[in-house]
Amino acid sequence: MGCLAQGKLCTIWPMSPSKRIIRPIGQPTRGKTALNRLRQVDIYIALTRSACLIGISPLVVDVGYGAQAWTAIEMWERWLPFNPNLRLLGLEIDPERVAAAQPYAQPGVLGFRLGGFNLTDVLGGEKATIIRAYNVLRQYEEEAVTDALYKMGQALVIRGILIEGTSTPSGNIVAFDVYEKVTNDALVHRELVFGTNFRQLVTPVHFQAILPKRLIHHMQDEGPAAFFEAWQQALRLAKGMGQTGQRQQWQLAAHFLHQRFGYPVDIRRRILRRGYMGIQASLLP
Ligand SMILES: C[S@@+](CC[C@H](N)C(=O)[O-])C[C@H]1O[C@@H](n2cnc3c(N)ncnc32)[C@H](O)[C@@H]1O
Repeated sequence: MGCLAQGKLCTIWPMSPSKRIIRPIGQPTRGKTALNRLRQVDIYIALTRSACLIGISPLVVDVGYGAQAWTAIEMWERWLPFNPNLRLLGLEIDPERVAAAQPYAQPGVLGFRLGGFNLTDVLGGEKATIIRAYNVLRQYEEEAVTDALYKMGQALVIRGILIEGTSTPSGNIVAFDVYEKVTNDALVHRELVFGTNFRQLVTPVHFQAILPKRLIHHMQDEGPAAFFEAWQQALRLAKGMGQTGQRQQWQLAAHFLHQRFGYPVDIRRRILRRGYMGIQASLLP
């Protein structure tokens, strides 16, 4: 299948490099998902990383979309306004989930395939501009994280991003890491993002249960413990200033975290008021 773009025939869908059987790297895990669960993640990326969505026909990959393909399809639909030629490939390690998603495929633009963290084996030389692996690594052992991130990163274009994170079952709150590929071999952690849709009363403690896998077992470590304590204090300060609304408290607490406690928080209003707090650079080495 091909498309004529800027006078050249380009492949519009990644082809397998050969007919050999490629074993997906990873392990089967629970497939629970929910409609709109990853809405906050998609919107944050649209707000801050839309450069990854431009180009002739960029490819984005959702690794581990789950028992239903909802969140993968929603991601594609949310980002289509940035580029009507955007292509999305959903990968699943569970063959039944791949089969269940086929009725939703759209030739050349939206597809679902069997695959694991070894994306390069599936993409056949093509690279993605965004890879999302959400609520996937949380079910793995911590030791598997670095290798999984590295393997997925291999399939990114330079300046492409990898999103790894966790959410509550409904997606009311989310926490995720954004990594950027800077050279062929280097994937750099750019930010840790917390998000809330303000539908439930949220305190920093709630996020401790849904931290990205690299952090979740390190809550007692000095860096994460100090951060959450500072966030808690910042929230108390915000409430003490007479802020009664959750949104206002969230925004003011982020400013305090930045100004009084020195954390590299993204304090742009358009980010904070939508319920996001991005901390630049890593809390752990
Ligand atoms: C809990 S679901 C997450 C679904 C969706 N991403 C969400 O956040 O709602 C995790 C899914 O990841 C899949 N999975 C686990 N390891 C994988 C891997 N290495 N490659 C691809 N899919 C994987 C599982 O089969 C499962 O369906």
